[in-house]
Amino acid sequence: MTSKHEIRIGIIGVGMIGVEHIRGFKVIPRCSVMGIADPDESRLKKVSAEHAVPLSFLDYRELLKREEIDAVVICSPPFAHEEIAVAAFQAGKHVLVEKPMAITPASARRILRYQKRAGKLLGSCSCRFRFSPTVAKAKEIIDAGDLGDIYHISISGISRRHRPGIDYHSGARWNLDKAKAGGGALMDWGIYDLNTLFHLFPKLTVSKVDGFCFRGLDEPVLADKEVFNVEEHGAAMLRCSNGLMVMWERAWAAHMNRQPRIRIYGSRAGLAFDPMAWSREVYFEIYEDRSGKPVTIAPDTSFDPWNVHISMAHDFIDAIFKNRPPITTGEEELKFIDVIHALYRSNQKKAAVSV
Ligand SMILES: NC(=O)c1ccc[n+]([C@@H]2O[C@H](COP(=O)([O-])OP(=O)(O)OC[C@H]3O[C@@H](n4cnc5c(N)ncnc54)[C@H](O)[C@@H]3O)[C@@H](O)[C@H]2O)c1
Repeated sequence: MTSKHEIRIGIIGVGMIGVEHIRGFKVIPRCSVMGIADPDESRLKKVSAEHAVPLSFLDYRELLKREEIDAVVICSPPFAHEEIAVAAFQAGKHVLVEKPMAITPASARRILRYQKRAGKLLGSCSCRFRFSPTVAKAKEIIDAGDLGDIYHISISGISRRHRPGIDYHSGARWNLDKAKAGGGALMDWGIYDLNTLFHLFPKLTVSKVDGFCFRGLDEPVLADKEVFNVEEHGAAMLRCSNGLMVMWERAWAAHMNRQPRIRIYGSRAGLAFDPMAWSREVYFEIYEDRSGKPVTIAPDTSFDPWNVHISMAHDFIDAIFKNRPPITTGEEELKFIDVIHALYRSNQKKAAVSV
């Protein structure tokens, strides 16, 4: 338990998601947004004025020097996460880091080493959709054993055109560069899939990955020095330690229709649901037999997507007050990054690889 009355947050990187974090942490009780940092001066000034944040710095290291700051949320592009997280732990701050926590497993491990030394909390924002009511409902049904023996899981997140830097968020071309983003659709959105999978099935371990990556839809016009070397689409069969096979695919862009995202097949019943809707209407169906006849049940799982974001901020603040791990820890995030990197290796070898 901390004896503090209020946790004072610093947001590092105030681009698209950094601003959402400012809005989110502002409405959480016993918490305030005390400072922001961003090397982009005009953005820093604009965000500071619009959101009336007391402290603002071009260099995040100046923010970390301030004793008023208890914890930071790292919202820079992924290539800078390690440097900032390490500096934050050295300065004695708790850290919530945007996904992916790091661009490689080695980088994630270095962050974990500094966290252990500092004895501070480390949470990852890849937990976002654990707070979706569809995921909560699915967990309730799975944990109650209502599906019988679960023998197959399929996760499919396909967009027609949703490439950051091309189809939206045009200012964030860093998403297309592996050195800056760590990867494409898999590191950007696939990490949410893995977080949800391991949340629903915490005992699962992935032993082998056999997958592919693809990039090759219409090419954007790139400026000098810009690159586009990350996957638009990736998919794999994940062989899990209990014999379960998970079929997983994630695409920023593909010539394909949108399908229900997660399907869980059990001997007694099945489930199909979408964990990530940004609207109030969200897909959730249960399939079972009643009196020998197949029936489909669609419980009400409508929700306000904003609550999902707020719940994540709430969890982090509560974790600090109670000195408990955040809902997704750095160790768990490393597990997700390990699986994605195994898929990248499998794509290079054109064969199944061990995780
Ligand atoms: N955009 C989204 O909808 C979204 C959603 C969820 C998570 N994320 C994740 O959040 C992170 C940021 O994404 P974004 O879309 O907000 O990017 P963005 O490009 O909109 O903003 C990034 C900001 O970080 C700043 N920055 C760059 N280097 C920095 C450094 N060394 N120190 C401090 N600030 C630095 C940039 O100037 C910019 O203002 C990424 O990890 C991304 O995967 C983004």
